[in-house]
Amino acid sequence: MNIVVIGDGGREHALAWKLKKSAAVERIFCAPGNAGTAEIGENIPIAATDFAGLVRFAKKNRIHLTVVGPDDPLAAGIVDVFEEAGLRIFGPSKTAARLEASKIFAKQIMRCSDIPTAMARAFEESAEALRFAEQLRYPIVIKADGLALGKGVIVASNAAEATEAIGAMMEKRKFGDAGRRVLIEEFLNGWECSLHALVDGDNYQMLATARDYKRACDGNEGANTGGMGAFSPADRWDRMLEAQAHEKIMKPLLRGLHEDGITFRGLLFPGLMVTKSGAHVLEFNCRFGDPETQVILPRLKGDLLPLLEATIDRRLTDVKIEWDERSAVTVVMASGGYPGNYETGKKISGLEECARLNDVHIFHAGTRRVNDKVVTAGGRVLAVTALGETLAHARERAYDAVSRIHFEGAHYRRDIAAKIENPQPNASSNS
Ligand SMILES: Nc1ncnc2c1ncn2[C@@H]1O[C@H](COP(=O)(O)OP(=O)(O)O)[C@@H](O)[C@H]1O
Ligand SMILES: [Mg+2]
Repeated sequence: MNIVVIGDGGREHALAWKLKKSAAVERIFCAPGNAGTAEIGENIPIAATDFAGLVRFAKKNRIHLTVVGPDDPLAAGIVDVFEEAGLRIFGPSKTAARLEASKIFAKQIMRCSDIPTAMARAFEESAEALRFAEQLRYPIVIKADGLALGKGVIVASNAAEATEAIGAMMEKRKFGDAGRRVLIEEFLNGWECSLHALVDGDNYQMLATARDYKRACDGNEGANTGGMGAFSPADRWDRMLEAQAHEKIMKPLLRGLHEDGITFRGLLFPGLMVTKSGAHVLEFNCRFGDPETQVILPRLKGDLLPLLEATIDRRLTDVKIEWDERSAVTVVMASGGYPGNYETGKKISGLEECARLNDVHIFHAGTRRVNDKVVTAGGRVLAVTALGETLAHARERAYDAVSRIHFEGAHYRRDIAAKIENPQPNASSNS
């Protein structure tokens, strides 16, 4: 059968790589893809937001399944459009994807379903938001309601920073309509963890846990990025947290969605903050994480395709998911200057050498092939993943692979999966 993966990042390369291993898969297409996906399949020059183009392609090429990588096509209703056209697609409907596309909506569901989350209030008027922010104890968290490329959350350490954030979101409309409404939220102190679950409407199955690194520089300093690295499983995850994930998060959420008449089918990715009083949901994402996918999928034993099919067909209770016991670490190599301005078109060397290493996977993000060379084409360039018997071993092998890859201005964190951690910027850790 033929499959399309929508998107062009490291997550999509990892999805295409894993799907290609299924014996049932003949051709795999990536829209629009990158130099990495072009090596395992065929890139097609259709944007993730060109639904008509994607539907036409799927019909013409007898595509059995389309898998959506990024959040924005889901929020814009790509799944509804495909299903109306009689096409099979993996991901939640537009209504269900509001869990990610509206943080206020997600907060309402969490409140009604008694899911542990930060206290928060929603605002539509900046004057009201400003008045409220004045009375609070800092730090506080200000969140644009809608999708803002991972940049719509500001931890404000004082009233001046809060005023600026509210002004930028609600008045200057820095994130367009996404900032028309904001949430002002209690600051939670703890460590972060990413959960992934396949949800088939009625049932769910958890995937492996992971932790990611959002800040650009070592020690969790510098600007927020799309993600500079990750590892799996999460080191501090235990049975008690596992039980909380089921009883306090997943089950109540599915009940809450059901009561609202919303069917969620696809991948649900709750972002957690684990505090002294347990796991709290910071947000729900409605698609695979990037770079979490680059450490989760290499640990998945067996094929991914049957799991996605079971999700769509509401048969998740029938499947068994098994994990490689080993740890996985991924280190993101970025262009110099990222997440600010950066140059592209830099030649990347060392990729062939790394391809020969055992249990090392180089997932491409911002790359492009020009003649016989692979060059940089984005901020995050590669996610270099390695498996190892221990987290330390996986980390060593990932960094060994990174040391063999070169491009002008390459920037990466040296402390991914390192022992000493600094889980929360702007706060003293006491959890
Ligand atoms: N209530 C909170 N308390 C402390 N930190 C928070 C809180 N909410 C969000 N954050 C921080 O901001 C980051 C981004 O917030 P999140 O809700 O995940 O939105 P998004 O991923 O859409 O930017 C989190 O990973 C976390 O570091
Ligand atoms: Mg997040």
